[in-house]
Amino acid sequence: MAAKKMKCVKVEKKGGIAWVWLNRPEKRNAMSPQLHYEMDETLKVLETDPATRVVVIAGAGGYFSAGQDLKEFFRANENNPAGRKAAAEAANRWRWERLYKYDKPTIAMIEGYCVGGAFMQLCAVDFAITADDTVFSLSEVNWGILPGALVSKVVSDTIMPRKALYYCCLGEPFDGVEAEKIGFVNFSVPKEELVDKTIELAQKLMAKSPAVLRATKHAVRQVRTMDFDQSYDYLAAKGQAIKVGDEQDSYNTGLSQFLDKKSYKPTFEPFALKKGKKAAKKKAAKKTAKKKATKKKAGKKTARRR
Ligand code: ACO
Repeated sequence: MAAKKMKCVKVEKKGGIAWVWLNRPEKRNAMSPQLHYEMDETLKVLETDPATRVVVIAGAGGYFSAGQDLKEFFRANENNPAGRKAAAEAANRWRWERLYKYDKPTIAMIEGYCVGGAFMQLCAVDFAITADDTVFSLSEVNWGILPGALVSKVVSDTIMPRKALYYCCLGEPFDGVEAEKIGFVNFSVPKEELVDKTIELAQKLMAKSPAVLRATKHAVRQVRTMDFDQSYDYLAAKGQAIKVGDEQDSYNTGLSQFLDKKSYKPTFEPFALKKGKKAAKKKAAKKTAKKKATKKKAGKKTARRR
């Protein structure tokens, strides 16, 4: 992340995963305008960061997010249309436009509370994993608004219509097990397994060809609103586009490892990724340095013998 110190967001990078923490646990990670600005900038930077292969969105202190900050996002901006517009733009950009079209795989790791406006990022990410005891709530109806921005839309696009109406209109809380059952999340697991399960999924994603994975996730999303003819065209073009600049030369590598080398079975696993150019260069440099050191050592020994 950029050198700027952030107040409401924390980023930790490890083994290709960038963990992005909404970081206002004392406010249950309610989303203030400042948090939105920082999330927007963070996601923009990570999308082209070479060390980041998967982004996990989570909440510090064991809370995903209590939704929009009712004080700082709503009340404080009531008489400040410019401030309200700026905050809403940033909020919608990172929670929807950025995440929905993100070039890298994204996972939401959800625990504690996931309320109201936090459903935007929940529905925008590619995958979501939650703890069984998480409290989900579309609480808007309980305090006087409808699920706005895109919440009503993305909730009804994600889950079954009857369930969408029920939870939006009743504002009743539900747990992780129900969230999995109705399709809000991929998996609900006991709390103590949440982090491991998230890492396991991230590692599976990192084992795939990045170019093929990127095109696949974009394709699955885009064809939802296309008709059959448009989908044929789009998928054919996207299929060709994968090959441009694909470091893995995935199509040929995948076929060759299966048909010629017989080293894997695509039904069960991905082909073995080639090391990236940088990694290969680093390895070569290390090898040369080691060779030089061995030579130097051998030279010293010969000199001593003389
Ligand atoms: N906006 C502003 N402040 C919040 C929010 C919020 N959404 N959620 C929690 N806080 C603040 C509380 O006011 C409190 O602040 P204080 O310590 O200065 O009094 C602090 O966070 C801790 O909250 P508690 O209510 O004391 O924590 P508790 O764990 O008992 O309850 C819960 C958490 C259930 C999330 C509760 O705070 C709550 O219902 N919050 C409102 C959730 C909500 O309706 N969000 C808006 C959805 S609509 C939308 O996002 C568009």
